[in-house]
Amino acid sequence: MRSVTLKAPAKLNLGLRITGILPNGFHSLESVFSAITLADEVEVAISDGSRGTSLRCTGFPSPEGPSNLVWKAAELFRAETGYTGSIYIRLHKNIPSPGGLGGGSSDTAAVIRALVKLTGLEVDVIELGSALGSDVPFFAGGFSHAVVRGRGELVEGCSVPEFHAVLVSSGERIPTPVAYSLWDEGGGHLTEPWQISNYTALNFGVWHEGKPFPVRLDNDFLPVLSRRFPGVERAAGILSETCVNWGLSGSGPVFYALYPYEKEAVEAEENLSGKFPWVFRCRSRQIGASSNG
Ligand code: C5P
Repeated sequence: MRSVTLKAPAKLNLGLRITGILPNGFHSLESVFSAITLADEVEVAISDGSRGTSLRCTGFPSPEGPSNLVWKAAELFRAETGYTGSIYIRLHKNIPSPGGLGGGSSDTAAVIRALVKLTGLEVDVIELGSALGSDVPFFAGGFSHAVVRGRGELVEGCSVPEFHAVLVSSGERIPTPVAYSLWDEGGGHLTEPWQISNYTALNFGVWHEGKPFPVRLDNDFLPVLSRRFPGVERAAGILSETCVNWGLSGSGPVFYALYPYEKEAVEAEENLSGKFPWVFRCRSRQIGASSNG
């Protein structure tokens, strides 16, 4: 049996704009995705013989059968490549789900990458992954930071200044499809896509006058979700009173507050602990940096 163990990082959405509705019912977005040091751990092992696929999950609860995205990733890999050996997956979940942090997509990308490495069989990791989740192309491409557009398949690497982050969750369960249908029902207005100058400015992004980026951290889901989920509304209220740079990640319910220095993040963590069911401090993941927070 041969095995590979990978970290599957979470991402934050540093601003999220819904810019269109696609013919297939999906929405087009524009967002800066930023990988952080909070990560799941994925171990994939293969062996000859056909004992099928098996999955063991620890940490935050995650289904241990075919409904798990990582299982689907393994099956799709078999279908694409004809691989028939045994696939054993061990998943340790540190990323809350659903959280808006892309945990499932990141795990999926990690499994596909691990299978390519272990079997030596070629697949288009990004194409295979995007069939499983809209956020997979970002993770499958191995980016630290990127401007993501379309349904999630248009990914352009960018630079983002290093930051420390405190994450908080309202603890409410908000599956992604629910967030999108609430946005649809609310007659959500579309936000104008960025001008090209925003992309240029982003790549010179440094902490300046207390602001991390030439990027607004607004998230188009926030007004919609605040109306339906009291915990989201409460979290937004607490963060707007106590933090300068904060936002909702993806379709929630995890929020983040960003700081240039660790000391400020530690103070914020102390201040926010006890006010939310889950609080976690981490930092941006820069290429080549240790992924252990
Ligand atoms: O691809 P993912 O698993 O993230 O999508 C879950 C659901 O969220 C989709 O079935 C779709 O209803 C909605 N979605 C969307 N537009 C996106 C991403 C997701 O409408 N860009």
